[in-house]
Amino acid sequence: MLEDQRPGSVYWIDHYVVGTNDLDRWMDFHERILGARPYGQVDERRQIGAFQKLTHCHHGGFVQKNPLPATRGLGKECPRYGFFTRQEDIDGHLRRLDQHQVPHSDPIHTSAEGEDGTVIYWEDPDGNEFEFWAPVHLPPGAMDDCGPLKVGRISHGVYESRDLQRTADFYHRFCALDPNQSSDIPGNTLVLPLAGGARDVYRQAEELGRRVGGRGEWRGLHAALVVRDEDYLPSYRRMWGELSEWEFDREKGLLPEAPERLPARTALHGSAAGRKFKEVYGRGDDFYDWDMNSFHFVGGVPERSSMAVYEARTMEFHMQQLLESQGQGGALPREMPA
Ligand SMILES: [Fe+2]
Repeated sequence: MLEDQRPGSVYWIDHYVVGTNDLDRWMDFHERILGARPYGQVDERRQIGAFQKLTHCHHGGFVQKNPLPATRGLGKECPRYGFFTRQEDIDGHLRRLDQHQVPHSDPIHTSAEGEDGTVIYWEDPDGNEFEFWAPVHLPPGAMDDCGPLKVGRISHGVYESRDLQRTADFYHRFCALDPNQSSDIPGNTLVLPLAGGARDVYRQAEELGRRVGGRGEWRGLHAALVVRDEDYLPSYRRMWGELSEWEFDREKGLLPEAPERLPARTALHGSAAGRKFKEVYGRGDDFYDWDMNSFHFVGGVPERSSMAVYEARTMEFHMQQLLESQGQGGALPREMPA
């Protein structure tokens, strides 16, 4: 089934970026709670942020100039990210959360997102919200390389939508995903199973929260969705054919006017490779859904013939490959992945 998907299907969440007001605190916290390990470069002046390795995924904490808003609380704030865990390890995760005085919920058995399992909601010191998700049935690859703290790969992202049908149409068209039809899912929730076994979840909201990436207020908040590497450019081309480009440069620090009224769109990815990408293709590789949630694609090459575990090919990889094919190897400056 894993290998028999529509072209352009999203398989996994490769990484996400959240905001922080104290990078050293953020790095230390996630080392202790997720078992995160160093990954890539950390800017020595502590002004941009850092990435950390998590199983086969990674995540980022980007330093925000302004204080992040108060969180709306456990299981409420969006975007929110979950991690696969095993049912037999739930007590161990609770003990670790308590040991480090992390605000968390009790374990809750639920099938409200279409699968049976147990969830624990918790938050980091910047008010970013997370979940440990222990499903009854773990998908292949979920716990691969999970490390001594037994935290698996990113299991889901939770976002807000003002129109769930419009969001479902967006995912159907551009991510080749369709809603989970389980009768356990409440009417205010859209669950989009990803081909690898993770999911994206949208909650109906009248007004969108402060932490959503497309407000332009916060640097770099986004998630990366994995498609097969051969679908990487075709997926963008499909999007570019139907969505307009947002001429917004997040690095210039100008806030867009009324971003909540903007349609789904693509935009410049503010890294050196992103600028090169836009120069080559005339379009950006960031994209926004109808509710300011920010994403980009990552290509995945199956390991051992299965997308259960993949080798990630980022936009930086694709741009470097393109430049080398044009005899311009090494033309991209070294920088943090984005
Ligand atoms: Fe990214």
